[in-house]
Amino acid sequence: MAGHRRDWEALGEIDPLYAILSDPGARNGEWDVEAFLATGEADAARIMGACEALGVPVRREASFELGCGVGRITRALSPSFSRSVGVDISAPMIARAREMNADRPNCEWAVNDAPDLASFADGEFDLVVSFIVLQHVPDRAVISSYLREMARILAPGGALVVQMPASMPLRQRVQWRRRAYHGLRAARVPERTLYRRFGLDPIRMNWMARRDVEAAMRLGGADVIAVQDGWLGDGSQVGRETNLTYLATR
Ligand SMILES: C[S@@+](CC[C@H](N)C(=O)[O-])C[C@H]1O[C@@H](n2cnc3c(N)ncnc32)[C@H](O)[C@@H]1O
Repeated sequence: MAGHRRDWEALGEIDPLYAILSDPGARNGEWDVEAFLATGEADAARIMGACEALGVPVRREASFELGCGVGRITRALSPSFSRSVGVDISAPMIARAREMNADRPNCEWAVNDAPDLASFADGEFDLVVSFIVLQHVPDRAVISSYLREMARILAPGGALVVQMPASMPLRQRVQWRRRAYHGLRAARVPERTLYRRFGLDPIRMNWMARRDVEAAMRLGGADVIAVQDGWLGDGSQVGRETNLTYLATR
């Protein structure tokens, strides 16, 4: 986890908004913050809409996001809950989340660099979400652990909403930009130089078969009640992999 954490700390320091949403033309600090936050509002509205269609969550006390980045989605969910918690592996991302969301007093931000969510209680949250996160976690055992843990901290009648690619074409698995980044890092080239001058970054893309995602959630006590294409049925893809969003409850 240490190398993975360092990669996201570097991205959080160098170009956090682009590391979160890689919009063409927005690299090197070019994201308009209002436009960036508007994408969070749209995603949160889609999450709440998809949940409402399934009659969950039955209560709206607390929400939780794994891999919240600068809080794009948690911020937008916070008016619907008494308490909204976002955790991330990257301290610079969390520092930026605190700064950007100082106007949202019911939001709580924390660094979590463990492969579990041990600081949170069973059934603590009515809505648990994670978007564009698990695909970047290198180790599948850790991905399974997070899926189980997100199910564990979900309240009865709550909603667990997780996006994760189910497959990836062979060509895309090569990830030469990441390999070049790590090769040059081993030769002590500074992270900023690799990112800004060579246009490289350490971002990894991983995937997990649908049956394994569902099995991990079940081990944590949640059952999948719907699976949608892309980001909640919009059919969008990251590259050419099959991207799915899972909705589960307990
Ligand atoms: C592409 S960004 C998405 C941020 C946020 N989910 C959003 O959609 O705005 C991925 C985030 O996941 C975080 N992350 C990566 N691995 C993580 C882990 N093991 N635990 C928690 N956060 C993680 C990164 O630091 C980064 O902030």
